[in-house]
Amino acid sequence: MLKVLLASRNAGKLREFSDLLPSFPLVPWPADAPELPETGAFFQDNALQKAEGARAWWHLHGTEPVDGVLADDSGLCVDALWGGPGVLSARFAQDLPSYPERNRRLLAMLSEGADRAARFVCVLAFAPMPGRGHGGPFTVSGAVEGTLAFEHRGENGFGYDPIFIPEGFDQTFGELPSGTKHSLSHRARACAALRARLAANPQ
Ligand code: IMP
Repeated sequence: MLKVLLASRNAGKLREFSDLLPSFPLVPWPADAPELPETGAFFQDNALQKAEGARAWWHLHGTEPVDGVLADDSGLCVDALWGGPGVLSARFAQDLPSYPERNRRLLAMLSEGADRAARFVCVLAFAPMPGRGHGGPFTVSGAVEGTLAFEHRGENGFGYDPIFIPEGFDQTFGELPSGTKHSLSHRARACAALRARLAANPQ
């Protein structure tokens, strides 16, 4: 069983990883640890930057041994916004205090009749601690296609979930039970790829 440091303070992500990776005891990123920079242009850059930054910090300051560090860089990519907010999803509309307001602003950016196609993307980077096997750092990814709702609907999940309707459903991720999200989400698909990659290269 791998003990993994999760390089994120996002409570929504932490909750989801605990459900999606039940066999990996997760150590949360400590409240007094530094913010991890994410200055890349692509999800892959940012995921690797966070995993390697967290691994270097933990190597010096970690309070318990872990086998590796897991970082998630994810976001909502909207076709009518040329893929935005994309890698900037966490920074979109930061002048507004909450997601219901940010979601309304995002929806207001689409003109009437605009293409509402969108997808959630998740890139996971795994960086093994030195001497713990699994080769060097690597990334895996997952995505889920869908469309944007016309209004913020539902309170489940986090972030942009209440405005995203996954393909094949009429409800948003904010309305669907978490089990449904976990059966098809970008993060669930990336976690499946992570488990497969670790199983194929255990040492
Ligand atoms: P980052 O990966 O920390 O840069 O932030 C990702 C941002 O994308 C989050 O803060 C959310 O706004 C959004 N996001 C990523 N995954 C999800 C999801 O599963 N549901 C809703 N919003 C998400």
